[in-house]
Amino acid sequence: MSRYHTIYRAALDAPQTFWADQSRRIPWFRAPDTILSYDDQQHARWFEGGTLNICHAALDHHVEQGRGEQAALYWDSPVTGTKQTLSYRLLRDRVARVAGGLAQLGVTKGDRVVIYMPMVPEAVIAMYACARLGAIHSVVFGGFAPHELALRIEDAEPKVVIAASCGVEINTVLPYKPIVDQALAQSRFKPSATVIFQRDLNRAELGEGEYDWQELESAAAAECVAVEATHPLYILYTSGTTGKPKGVVRDTGGYAVALAYSMEAVYDLAPGEVCFTASDVGWVVGHSYIVYGPLLRGCTSVLYEGKPVKTPDAASFWRIIDEYKVKSFFTAPTAFRAIKKEDPDARLLARHDLTSLEYVFVAGERLDPPTFHWLEDVLDVPVIDHWWQTETGWPIAANPAGIELARAKAGSATFPMPGFDVAILERDGAPAAPLSEGSVVIRQPLPPGCLTGIWKDPQRFHSAYMAAFPGSYLTGDGGHFDAEGYLFIMGRTDDVINVAGHRLSTGEMEEVLGGHPAVAECAVIGIHDDLKGQLPLGFVIAKDGFDGDEARLEAELVKRVREVIGPVAALKQVLVVDRLPKTRSGKILRKLMRTMADGKAYAVPSTIDDPASLEEIHAALCERDIGQAGQAAPRE
Ligand code: COA
Ligand code: AMP
Repeated sequence: MSRYHTIYRAALDAPQTFWADQSRRIPWFRAPDTILSYDDQQHARWFEGGTLNICHAALDHHVEQGRGEQAALYWDSPVTGTKQTLSYRLLRDRVARVAGGLAQLGVTKGDRVVIYMPMVPEAVIAMYACARLGAIHSVVFGGFAPHELALRIEDAEPKVVIAASCGVEINTVLPYKPIVDQALAQSRFKPSATVIFQRDLNRAELGEGEYDWQELESAAAAECVAVEATHPLYILYTSGTTGKPKGVVRDTGGYAVALAYSMEAVYDLAPGEVCFTASDVGWVVGHSYIVYGPLLRGCTSVLYEGKPVKTPDAASFWRIIDEYKVKSFFTAPTAFRAIKKEDPDARLLARHDLTSLEYVFVAGERLDPPTFHWLEDVLDVPVIDHWWQTETGWPIAANPAGIELARAKAGSATFPMPGFDVAILERDGAPAAPLSEGSVVIRQPLPPGCLTGIWKDPQRFHSAYMAAFPGSYLTGDGGHFDAEGYLFIMGRTDDVINVAGHRLSTGEMEEVLGGHPAVAECAVIGIHDDLKGQLPLGFVIAKDGFDGDEARLEAELVKRVREVIGPVAALKQVLVVDRLPKTRSGKILRKLMRTMADGKAYAVPSTIDDPASLEEIHAALCERDIGQAGQAAPRE
């Protein structure tokens, strides 16, 4: 791995030179005059003085360079039985008209636009149309309920909300307009217009201040507005430890450079090649490697509205790879576990020609060794686990296919990527002993592409990420390096859980459970699940006067979480208990409860207030046959 090590060292030793070189990948309107500078909080700012427009770099530029007739997007929607190919020219023209329509609604540089759409080309068009005007988009995942949408609208204060009339899940049409209506009713902030993209499966009635997408698209084309490199491209909300999601702010220039670099260095994709990222435009993976990264690089991106299974079967991904001649395929491990469950011997693979496929990438959660080995057995290509977060925007650690492939190790995300100075720290901030586990941090400066702040909340940026270990960014993940420098990310050290590759906050679910009038106290933990990686599990103590109908209370609480956070929260079980294990200072021992639920041996901490509470939790778990609780036992 000498080539990787040389490049990695160069990026750390001389970041200005390294990223100045990478910045040449982007067609700037005005080249940056400062590569790296710092704001007054000592956070890195990249490419100050440069101006660009990412829509120009990803669309207009390629059309100008002769790529206009190449496919930019293949849209494949088994849930609606539709396919479309959008060339760079067609996409550019549609984006320019929608940008013109948004401009007519008064959207200008710096205004926010919230987008609530499923995996349809119009979602991509809406994002680029905002970028074309220098407006800041905030895409909200369709699996979130009205309350979550309302929180984001209140925080982002958008001039316009763009939604589709419906989404389509397996055999279910989900009307989106009522969700938008409820969210707007709940939000104290009201946008001046709502735009609805009408889908034939469920058309929405439009009222005052509501516009049909087609009206927008019939406007005159708008030109690209030059923005500063540091101008926000988007806000993407992600779960933190409290009920209020964090609005991760991404800049334009640093992000464009980092994505263009990673498309080559990490994913080994050249212009004209096809990549398929099976995620959702509502997540960071979708922003970076469905929407922006592939088109910045002149590739073709597959936009897939379907599931890994049941739309119609476990061969869907193989069909897409075959049909569109995909070179690089990226999804979450949970998707492969779903396929493996339905087709354990991968017999359906025989139906398809996968010779175009050169790499499989996975992220969103750790690639568990059994799934890694299954993939290695059934596919004849490198399987690359890579680790990243909404905050970083691109992989912190990967096996860099475009630089040099290392021998993969099951359970490891391989090596830190150039620009990321990853370290493992003890609780007190001292470097962890070699090979031992600790808090994974990234030493400043964070490379281009990473968050530049939390929307309207600089204090939270500091307290959530920078305060714990001065000079370093706290990732919230625990992990270790092995003797050969391979990085193993073992799970979150905070209240964030990962359900089917979706990042959720147990703290937020606790707020929802705690809001029920019968609940005195509660805790939510993430327990192991063979398919989804983790599942949330709730515990509640009922208030005095509770009528004892535990089944009814559980059903009400499950419904409440689904209604407030959304179906994606997937909280299906809540146990009513008399006590929760706590320390003498009153802190609920959630980690200990998780260890018990996962059937692992646990040590009873000396600080526990009431050791008998553990027996009660254990009994409640065993009674419901939850997780592997039956195997858990106190360690001697
Ligand atoms: N809009 C509305 N509802 C949605 C939704 C969306 N975009 N996405 C998910 N939901 C709903 C589902 O329909 C489901 O509802 P239900 O409780 O009524 O069945 C619920 O939210 C939970 O969804 P999910 O956790 O995805 O479970 P699932 O059983 O539907 O599918 C997988 C399981 C593994 C097939 C699916 O999660 C998957 O393909 N995951 C890939 C992960 C991924 O894309 N991660 C992004 C980061 S790379
Ligand atoms: P998100 O912000 O939704 O992308 O979620 C980021 C979190 O998902 C990380 O902090 C990790 O906890 C987890 N994660 C993502 N990719 C990986 C990976 N390859 N290995 C381990 N954990 C991962």
